[in-house]
Amino acid sequence: MKTFPTSAVWCLGILFISVSLITTGSSEVVGPADPVVALAGDDIILPCSLKPSVSAEEMVVEWTRSNLRKENVHLYRQGRDSNEDQSPSYSGRTSMFHEELKNGNVSLKLTRVTLSDAGRYRCFIPTLTSQVKETTVQLLVGAVSQPVISIDGTKGWGVVLKCESGGWFPEPEMEWLDSSGTILPADGPPEIHREEDLYAVRRHVTVNQTDTNRFTCRVKQPEINHLKETEIHVPDEVFPKSQVGFIVGLIAAAVVVLTASAGGVYWWRKHKEKQRQRLEELCDAWFVDRHKDDLIQRVSEGKSIASELHKKDLIPDEMNSQISAAGTRQDQMRLLFKALEEAENTTRVKSAFYRILLRLEPYLVYHLEEQRQRLEELRDAQFVTRHKDHLIQKVSKGESIASELHQKDLIPDEMNSRISAARTSQDQMRLLFKALEEAEDTTRVKSAFYRILLDLEPDLVKDLKKKQRQRLEERRDAWFVDRHKDHLIQKVSKGKSIASELHQKDLIPDEMNSQISVAATSQDQMRLLFKALEEAENTTRVKSAFYRILLDLEPDIVKDLEKQRQRLEELREALFVDRHKDDLIQKVSKGKSIASELHQKDLIPDEMNSQISAAGTSQDQMRLLFLALEEAENTTRVKSAFYRILLDLEPDIVKDLDICDDLFGLFNLFENLKKEIDDVTRERGELNNCMDFIDLSENTCLKKYIHYILH
Ligand SMILES: *[C@@H]1O[C@H](CO)[C@@H](O)[C@H](O)[C@H]1NC(C)=O
Ligand SMILES: *[C@@H]1O[C@H](CO)[C@@H](O)[C@H](O)[C@H]1NC(C)=O
Repeated sequence: MKTFPTSAVWCLGILFISVSLITTGSSEVVGPADPVVALAGDDIILPCSLKPSVSAEEMVVEWTRSNLRKENVHLYRQGRDSNEDQSPSYSGRTSMFHEELKNGNVSLKLTRVTLSDAGRYRCFIPTLTSQVKETTVQLLVGAVSQPVISIDGTKGWGVVLKCESGGWFPEPEMEWLDSSGTILPADGPPEIHREEDLYAVRRHVTVNQTDTNRFTCRVKQPEINHLKETEIHVPDEVFPKSQVGFIVGLIAAAVVVLTASAGGVYWWRKHKEKQRQRLEELCDAWFVDRHKDDLIQRVSEGKSIASELHKKDLIPDEMNSQISAAGTRQDQMRLLFKALEEAENTTRVKSAFYRILLRLEPYLVYHLEEQRQRLEELRDAQFVTRHKDHLIQKVSKGESIASELHQKDLIPDEMNSRISAARTSQDQMRLLFKALEEAEDTTRVKSAFYRILLDLEPDLVKDLKKKQRQRLEERRDAWFVDRHKDHLIQKVSKGKSIASELHQKDLIPDEMNSQISVAATSQDQMRLLFKALEEAENTTRVKSAFYRILLDLEPDIVKDLEKQRQRLEELREALFVDRHKDDLIQKVSKGKSIASELHQKDLIPDEMNSQISAAGTSQDQMRLLFLALEEAENTTRVKSAFYRILLDLEPDIVKDLDICDDLFGLFNLFENLKKEIDDVTRERGELNNCMDFIDLSENTCLKKYIHYILH
């Protein structure tokens, strides 16, 4: 009896021990099959647990790394976390899930991981009696960043794009794609640099113009399974063909028209080629003039440019030596500009300069051109802003416009849906304007809107432009009045009549009118009248009205003042008529109407008008009409009048001929015009005036020509 309990206790003891040996002895430490992947800065969990699960609350858990000899990453024992021997680099960043310990979950939480945390971690439970007391967990830490695309210049017909992305780990892959997701052949393999722990990668691609001109740079890191993309939209204008293409287009159009007319094609081609070269040079030189200050500040290759110009005999030895001896880049450029100005054929030398610059510093040229493009966008945007109310009332195709803008990613999905759900066209337009104003780059989006509008509702735009032109004309009239104030005060004798007409139109008050009518001398009348003009509420409108009355009552004075300008215009128009005589005889079908208008203006005699209206074919009408033009007393003026009527009645013919017009003949006029533009810009000090002036110019060829040069 005595031994029984003893042996029973002993037996139970053995049983208890073996049971506990069996249960804990069969549990093993288990880690994840795959590495844990994280980005620098993330909080992560390194998994580790006992399987089958038994409580680990009473166990010792050691998290260590092989590169840390004596220190721990994290130590758990005697039911709590212990900071003993913890590596300082993990201080405050580690923890275990205490409520999970009873389930055998001994995972470690690590916060704010760094690249140096990457490696193998050992999860070790020394108190286990099983074979498998530890496991290792691999941690991969990566870093990513958004790629940045820039335009690096042009090559052949293409544009060279550069994609750069730093701050990657491990080493990433970089590729270029087109808008359909096809990988583009890059200009060589990616260039990889390692800066401290991180990789920077760069890759160039030369792209051709496509439907969308959208290109994507993709950087990816497959080990950490991350990918970053950036897209660029390259404006059409950046592709090199635009500039030459336009001129080639001009020449092609000229050749087509000329081939249709009889003979002389070969001569014309040669002639045109010379003109083309001259035109190109002029454009280049203008670019150089316009950006002089910027170029002095920003060109870094002044010495090389000077040396190339010198090799071509375009700048003298001495100047070249001076430039290469100049201290700073700016001094080099200042001397170079001096050399350009002093050159015999300054246009040609400037053009040579431009071309070398384009080769050596294409990005600078592109950047300066871009500013100009931005200017045009600004103008479009101003148009949209200025006519907002009118556009909201009148535009009926808001939905189509919104959808086009949406396709171009310029307005968000939601707004597009709202617009297409709006009940009235006014509501659509109101929402659309809201979208325009909320856009990030509102100028760009408004400009895009303007261009779509121009496409979809051209008449509406034309109408608004006409109104705008009227206002501009008023400004021009007022400007004329201001500019010639002293001359007018001296010369105008009909101040009283002018005042009375203005008074009838309610443009000057009763009292002022009475004062003027009792003023002693005509100069006094005019002085009072000018006072009234200045004091008027809408002074521009009143001055414009004054100008028109003046034009009516004292046309000679106005004409005297405007003579030079007018003469030039008339001369140019008459030249156009002379030059295209044969074409005009063949093509114009409204000879009769033109003759009748000229007759009404007393510019051709009765008899001739009757003859023309009785002529059999339109060619015969035109032949007679030309006879009348030649026989007129002031043939230049009559031809100019003919030209303006033609422009009104058969604008397309004029446009066609304008394209192939003798640009060479415009150069003199162009030089004058350039001066005039400069004057206007200087005197009125407004950036837009150059553009306004072009809008005012009635001549489409001239307009096209200047627009081309400006852009
Ligand atoms: C351990 O606990 C953590 C925190 O609750 C959890 O995210 C993890 O999935 C658990 N691991 C296992 C193997 O249950
Ligand atoms: C661009 O065009 C040129 C010639 O037209 C061609 O050789 C080149 O492969 C094209 N590049 C791409 C990326 O399509």
